Amino acid sequence: MKITFLLNGETVRVEAEPTRTLLDWLREDRGLTGTKEGCNEGDCGACTVMVREPGADPRAFNACILFLPQLHGKAVRTVEGLSSPEGVLHPVQDAMIAHHGSQCGFCTPGFVMSMATAHANGRTDFDDQLAGNLCRCTGYAPIIRAAEAAADLPVPKWIVDDVPEGLCPDAGEEAEVALPTSSDELATWYEANPEATLVAGATDVGLWVTKQLRDLSPVAFLGKCDDLKAIEHTSDGLRIGAMATIATFREAISGSHPSLAEMLRRFASEQVRAAATLGGNIANGSPIGDAPPALIALDATLHLRKGNTRRVLPLQDFFLDYGKQDRAPGEFVEAVTIPDQPDRLRCYKLSKRFDQDISAVCGCFSVTVSDGIVAGAKIAFGGMAGIPKRAAMVEAALVGQPWTEDTIAAALPAFAEDFKPLSDMRASADYRLATAQNMLRRYFAEDTGTPATVLEVAP
Ligand SMILES: Cc1cc2nc3c(=O)[nH]c(=O)nc-3n(C[C@H](O)[C@H](O)[C@H](O)COP(=O)(O)OP(=O)(O)OC[C@H]3O[C@@H](n4cnc5c(N)ncnc54)[C@H](O)[C@@H]3O)c2cc1C
Ligand code: FES
Ligand code: FES
Repeated sequence: MKITFLLNGETVRVEAEPTRTLLDWLREDRGLTGTKEGCNEGDCGACTVMVREPGADPRAFNACILFLPQLHGKAVRTVEGLSSPEGVLHPVQDAMIAHHGSQCGFCTPGFVMSMATAHANGRTDFDDQLAGNLCRCTGYAPIIRAAEAAADLPVPKWIVDDVPEGLCPDAGEEAEVALPTSSDELATWYEANPEATLVAGATDVGLWVTKQLRDLSPVAFLGKCDDLKAIEHTSDGLRIGAMATIATFREAISGSHPSLAEMLRRFASEQVRAAATLGGNIANGSPIGDAPPALIALDATLHLRKGNTRRVLPLQDFFLDYGKQDRAPGEFVEAVTIPDQPDRLRCYKLSKRFDQDISAVCGCFSVTVSDGIVAGAKIAFGGMAGIPKRAAMVEAALVGQPWTEDTIAAALPAFAEDFKPLSDMRASADYRLATAQNMLRRYFAEDTGTPATVLEVAP
């Protein structure tokens, strides 16, 4: 099977090698060695490239965990294509020189690609835009100054014009690789190939290849199933397709559940959020995924499909045990629905680093209070068990009680009944238990008007 995409403005048609990363292909087959390999697992941003889908804004992606078939029908720009064909530098390149933004230079191609993508999208939240790019020698101040200096300059024509129109990307079919273009096609193919690996954003699966050298075949890439990307209001609430990225999910809930949107600002990095999907964050069954605890606290339901059979279950029931989910062979995640509700949700993510880090503990709380009495409580945690899990005993200790500090104090011992957390490199069991309890205290403090931001130190 062949795939077609634009590479620095030139149409390329290449074999859809299912687990060949864009980074390896650029460096080994095309001699485009400007895109660097640092970590090879999405953590450092040295391999950042700009990718644009038809009709969408450009996004920064990590080429090291992007498989070639994911590029079908898109436009890819690498650092070699950042200046004009005549050699005129992009404004962010000029600004990096003027502001001394590069010393050893290893990180610089990745930085300028992230900066150029932010520039093209008019984004000036540079701390967030560049959180996925590591620099170990220049330091960030000159780089941020360069990004600020370029911000008001016009987006160069060669970037504006870099749209993947008219590619007629028909990939064809092959036994080991599938690029279905709808959930119907996916359902038929996956039912016939239940042993296959589904690849959504590849931010987990990519590492199975780059770090564990796993053979994934046969593989279905879900990126062309546009109907799985839809986010829509239905009579049951907000329905989010499994292929909605974390970035688009975050935008969609920023008005209705701002605390979740704020927590997702710390979900990995701009590059990872552009690729990672909500469906992947659920289907991977990780006990430390950030979206599931929040969705459980919001009473979300999960839509599963196998062939033409669909079923819906409360999301919390999907997670059975560590590494075990309620999903049959050939069955896939179609969507999640969040019921409409007044926003009582607060999400707290505890990780060793503020940015670009996996949670040690993630606590999500939605407590409703009526006439001073707790009328309902939905509390869920990541990092406290082998699965994302409700704090049922804590909830029981709160419901029916006055919404007071005494009630909170009385509920704290129930955490030990709900959870027997592990000690690992992220946190000890005792620390996890103590911080989970403190998150409830924080929720109460915030809800009753005491500022509790962890970004400001109170005198
Ligand atoms: C640098 C880095 C930082 C990260 N930081 C975070 C973080 O802060 N918080 C966090 O929660 N996660 C984090 N992750 C993990 C990862 O980004 C998320 O789990 C992501 O949501 C996975 O989605 P994906 O689309 O990339 O899934 P993929 O990697 O494509 O797939 C993951 C799994 O889900 C399956 N799958 C995907 N879609 C479906 C579907 N529709 N139906 C059935 N099965 C499906 C795949 O077969 C695979 O088993 C990080 C990853 C990296 C590389
Ligand atoms: S090489 Fe580090 S993110 Fe790709
Ligand atoms: S300039 Fe050396 S790592 Fe950034």
